[in-house]
Formats: sequence, C-alpha cells, structure tokens
Amino acid sequence: MKRVVVLVSGSGRNLQALLDHAAAGTLQASIVGVLSNRADAYALERARLAKVPAICLPHQNYPERADFDRALADAVSALAPDIVLMAGFMRVLGDAFLERFAGRMLNIHPSLLPRHPGLRTHDRVLEAGDSEHGATVHFVTPELDGGPRIIQGKFRVPAQHTAAMLAEKLMTEIELRIYPQAVAWFARGELGLEAGRVKFRGVPLDAPLSLQDLEDPFR
Ligand code: GRF
Repeated sequence: MKRVVVLVSGSGRNLQALLDHAAAGTLQASIVGVLSNRADAYALERARLAKVPAICLPHQNYPERADFDRALADAVSALAPDIVLMAGFMRVLGDAFLERFAGRMLNIHPSLLPRHPGLRTHDRVLEAGDSEHGATVHFVTPELDGGPRIIQGKFRVPAQHTAAMLAEKLMTEIELRIYPQAVAWFARGELGLEAGRVKFRGVPLDAPLSLQDLEDPFR
C-alpha cells in the first residue's frame, strides 16, 4: 500500500473521490493525512469523517513564505508519504518544498494545460470563446501549473453554459475520474517522472493520456 498525503484548501470533492476509492480498495493506496492551509476548508471535515488525520497549518501564522513551506514540508514528511497530492490547494509552494517531493507530487488543474494556467479558468474559457474545456493531472514542478502532464479529460463547451455550470460539469464528468485513475497508476508503479518526462508503463509519453485510457472503476 502506498502512503498518500493530500494538500487541500477548499471543499475537497477531489479528496472525497480519493477517500472513497481508497476505502473501496481500488487505489492500492491509503490516505494517511490531509493538510490544509485554511481552518475552514470543508476538506478537513471530510478527512475527519473518514478517520484520516486532518491537520491545519494556517499560512497567516508564518510571516515568511519560506517558513510556511518548511513547516508544511516537515508536517508532510512526518507522515512518510510515497505520494503527495495537491487537490484544490491554493498556495504556491517554493522550490525547497518541491525539491523534497520531486517526482512524487501531483496536482489537478481545471483547464487543458498549457491553456489557462492559474485562476478563474472557467471564466477564461468563456471569455476566450474556447470550443473545448477540460482538466489536467500533472506532476508538480517549480513552474506554476507547468509540470509534465499525465492525463487530460475534455468536453465541448455547451452553448449557454455559465462559468459555474462549466465548473460543475468539469468536476463531475472529468476531475473526479481522472485524478483517482492517475493516483492508482502511480500507486501501482506504472507512472513516473524521468528526465522531466512522464513515463507510463516504461514508455515516455509524447502526449498526455486521455479519457479513453481510463480503466474500471474510474471510467
Ligand atoms: C478543482 O477544480 C481543482 O481542479 C482545482 O481546485 C478545485 C478543487 O475543488 N485545483 P475541490 O476542493 O476538490 O472540491
């Protein structure tokens, strides 16, 4: 069983999907801790309900960004994770943190990276008149939302959809499927980062995997 630590800041729907799969035995991983920089993150409550240690490190308690990074890295290290996941974690982490967990840290981002890194992705898709929207699971590197991409899921932007409707569609149809799948692959040792490229089942990926690559029960 691989040990997974999840970093959160918000509602934790991605976390919930991971907790559910871990409980069902479909991840070959156990979630050993959930850490939030916000005390009011509902994700912490989800962790407690699942009897997973829920830890809050309020970033405002640390005057310097580097101090927060160090405290978070120490708290994560204490849980001895094989994998560190960002799931709606809304703080930018410094190089010192990222180097400690290089090659074993994943993030999910609500856009078809490299399109729309950063915030407000659903609004920006509408503002740009994009025909497609999607989400990306990628390895975390110092470049914000710029690490090697593992899997993307996408759909055509429906007419008349608001940003809120797009966000909901993306969460339910894409995010809650591709993140647990990527974690399952990683936990099984089928996924790795080598020389800055994603290796999947021993072969470097030229392009991210897609919804067609999803396996049961993540389909
Ligand atoms: C998701 O849209 C995720 O892609 C983004 O932040 C949101 C987190 O939502 N990084 P939740 O906390 O998993 O509900």
